[in-house]
Amino acid sequence: MTKHIVGISGSLRKGSHNTLLLQQAQQFLPKDYQFTLADISQIPLYNQDDESNLPAAVEQFAALCRSADGFLISTPEYNGQISGVLKNALDWVSRPIVQTPLALKPIAIMGSTMGMGGTARAQINLRNLLFALNMDPVNRPEFQLSQAHLKFDESGAFTDPNGLKILQQLIENLAVKVGQR
Ligand SMILES: Cc1cc2nc3c(=O)[nH]c(=O)nc-3n(C[C@H](O)[C@H](O)[C@H](O)COP(=O)(O)O)c2cc1C
Repeated sequence: MTKHIVGISGSLRKGSHNTLLLQQAQQFLPKDYQFTLADISQIPLYNQDDESNLPAAVEQFAALCRSADGFLISTPEYNGQISGVLKNALDWVSRPIVQTPLALKPIAIMGSTMGMGGTARAQINLRNLLFALNMDPVNRPEFQLSQAHLKFDESGAFTDPNGLKILQQLIENLAVKVGQR
C-alpha cells in the first residue's frame, strides 16, 4: 500500500539548504512512497483564540499532516534551537482541535547550517519536542550538515558523497519504520 511522507523545512529562505535536502532526500524513498513538501510559510503565529476559527493555512497543513504516514523534518539552527517558524507550525498541529495528527507517527530529522555545528544543538532541541508531541523518532543515523554552502553544486544538488550515504540510510530507516506500522 502507498505510504505518504510529509517533509517540513524549518527555513523559509529561498535557496534554503534544508529545503534542498528534503527535495533530494525523497529519491531514497521506496518507489511506492509518496512525498509532499509542506508549505508552512503562510501559517500565522499561534493564538489559542483562533482555534474557534482556524486559519486556512493551518487547516491545510493539518489536513496534510493527517494524511501522512511519516514525517521528515530538516531544521536550521537559530541560536542553538530550531527556528520559530518550525516550532510555531508544530505547535498548531499538536492541538486536539486539529486531531493531533502527529501523535505516534514515525519521524526522521536532519539539519543543515552554514556554521560548523551541524545543527547538533537544534536537533537535541527538536528531539525533546518530538517527545512532547509523542512521535516515534528514527534515532540513527544522525544527519548533521555543517558548512552547507560548500556542499551543494550550482543546480542546488547536495554533492557530499559521505553525507549522501548517511542521508540515504536515514531515509531507508524511516521507510522501514513507516512500513512496520
Ligand atoms: C537568527 C539566526 C540564528 C542563527 N543561529 C545559529 C546557531 O546557533 N548555530 C548555527 O550553526 N547557525 C546559526 N545560524 C545560521 C543558520 O543555521 C544558517 O543560516 C542555516 O544555513 C540556515 O538554513 P537554510 O540554509 O536552510 O536557510 C543562525 C541564523 C539565524 C538567522
